[in-house]
Amino acid sequence: MVSKTIDKEKCTGCMLCEEICANSHVMTKGEDGYPAFTNEMMCIACGHCFAICPERAITFTFSPGTDQAEVVAPGAPIQYPNEFPAADTIGTFLFSTRSDRLYADKPVEKEKIEKVIEAMMRAPSAGNEQNKHYYVFTDPAKIAEIESLQKAYFRAVLNKYNSPLAKRSAALTISMNAKGSGVPLWTRYKNNLALTNNASFSDNSSVSYLKGAKVLLVITHDKKKGMHQSFYQGDIRIAGTYGILMAKALGLASCWMGLLEIAMGKSKKIGEAMHIGSHESMGGALVLGYSDTQWVGYPPRGPVTPKWQ
Ligand SMILES: Cc1cc2nc3c(=O)[nH]c(=O)nc-3n(C[C@H](O)[C@H](O)[C@H](O)COP(=O)(O)O)c2cc1C
Ligand code: SF4
Ligand code: SF4
Repeated sequence: MVSKTIDKEKCTGCMLCEEICANSHVMTKGEDGYPAFTNEMMCIACGHCFAICPERAITFTFSPGTDQAEVVAPGAPIQYPNEFPAADTIGTFLFSTRSDRLYADKPVEKEKIEKVIEAMMRAPSAGNEQNKHYYVFTDPAKIAEIESLQKAYFRAVLNKYNSPLAKRSAALTISMNAKGSGVPLWTRYKNNLALTNNASFSDNSSVSYLKGAKVLLVITHDKKKGMHQSFYQGDIRIAGTYGILMAKALGLASCWMGLLEIAMGKSKKIGEAMHIGSHESMGGALVLGYSDTQWVGYPPRGPVTPKWQ
């Protein structure tokens, strides 16, 4: 998958590469005093050896013909324009990132989408497996088709709850789930029943599920490949978050589409419309676009109760 070489002309034999290696015994010191890759089977292609070598003596390339070769983001020396932005600046950047639900009628440049995807591909993943596939939708007709299938799915689900008994049952379930709220159960139930009775379960057609955004990004993972299946959903969230932050840096807005994720996981038709392989698990969905919102602040968050020990 990855071929690595060590240029002995440049190498000083410091063995930092071996120290940082994720798995012991991938690299060992040879009798000539230089490191050697002696157990390639254990290499997870994390690239730490490449990234740490002070002499830049290690080359790290994906073998042609592999999937990775098609998607790999190139490596580069670390070069900061000046130095890291201050923590407060990074804080403001992070905290002011909003899930945008109003998008301008303006297309997103392909180069920007590519940069967002590159950021996602650079996200860490369990065992560096990078078990992710990216689907990019920019065709308005396709996005509209997906949105209409999503609506159809939720309409069918919600219609199941459109009887007085189902509404009472839903109100009770929601009330039971909120037992930590400090509000007595009967009060919770009455309030929730009022909500479910008023809710329009029959048709949600006026809701714009995909918010009029110009780009829909879907991330899946292969159910049949890899050793870290239990981590992949988390890997997808990390990748998406890298993409969201890069999008913001490029002047774009974004929002996770959790409701679409639910629908994608349940409705075969949506996967078919997206041309997603049957061996792939429906993971994350998010939209990108230019914001039609003028944010003036960021809201408080809480409760925060870290348990120091
Ligand atoms: C996994 C996940 C799924 C989400 N799904 C939706 C969604 O379907 N629709 C939506 O409008 N917002 C969605 N959001 C956005 C949340 O509502 C939002 O993060 C939260 O209200 C906090 O606002 P902020 O992201 O602007 O700080 C989702 C967020 C996450 C993390
Ligand atoms: S880190 Fe670089 S210089 Fe040091 S031993 Fe490894 S390859 Fe050689
Ligand atoms: S790529 Fe990672 S696992 Fe492979 S030899 Fe280098 S440091 Fe070790």
